[in-house]
Amino acid sequence: MEAIENINTRRSVRSFEEDEVPPSQIAEILRCGLRAPSASNGRPWEFILVKDQNVKDRIGYLGARSLYERKKRRLKDTKEQFEKIAEAPLFIVVACNTKKSPIFWRHDGSAATQNILLAAHSLGLGAVWVGAPFALKKHSNEIKKLLGMPKHIEIASIVALGSPKIKPKLKQVTDLKKKIHYERW
Ligand SMILES: Cc1cc2nc3c(=O)[nH]c(=O)nc-3n(C[C@H](O)[C@H](O)[C@H](O)COP(=O)(O)O)c2cc1C
Repeated sequence: MEAIENINTRRSVRSFEEDEVPPSQIAEILRCGLRAPSASNGRPWEFILVKDQNVKDRIGYLGARSLYERKKRRLKDTKEQFEKIAEAPLFIVVACNTKKSPIFWRHDGSAATQNILLAAHSLGLGAVWVGAPFALKKHSNEIKKLLGMPKHIEIASIVALGSPKIKPKLKQVTDLKKKIHYERW
């Protein structure tokens, strides 16, 4: 798929079939993650591949709790949203070594995450960036502990990945004019 078409047609997918993502596709997607730009070419990325349903469920639950505690959304709704996401056959945890990129690890991790989302879409897979569990420090800490991560490794994002059950409608970008400032604000 051509790059601009890929970008224009990617949507977040939050509903997945059970089928596993083939290892060759996972490898291809992660290689695209590793092609991302990074500050001073620090390349701080490491990936944790999580299939364990209990772990995915717990991460989903913490995401639901974060939205409930921070955004005051109804817990019933947020739980439903994240229970579906946790049905994705694979979670890719995009982690960054903060010793390799002490200032810009979040940016580096985000660049890799976007590459991963686009690569997944290009292969006909569905994916969503799962950031809510990291909105509260106590939840990030619990997830790091759950995944056995050392202190100097931080999580930039989690990508839930699988075959899409539903293909969301394409979005129109209609606000380009309002988003541009010429020369200064
Ligand atoms: C930093 C970040 C965190 C996100 N966290 C979540 C999340 O926890 N759960 C979720 O369902 N979607 C999450 N998303 C996806 C956004 O909700 C989604 O990108 C947005 O609604 C636009 O939809 P689209 O991706 O289909 O264009 C996140 C996206 C970003 C960039």
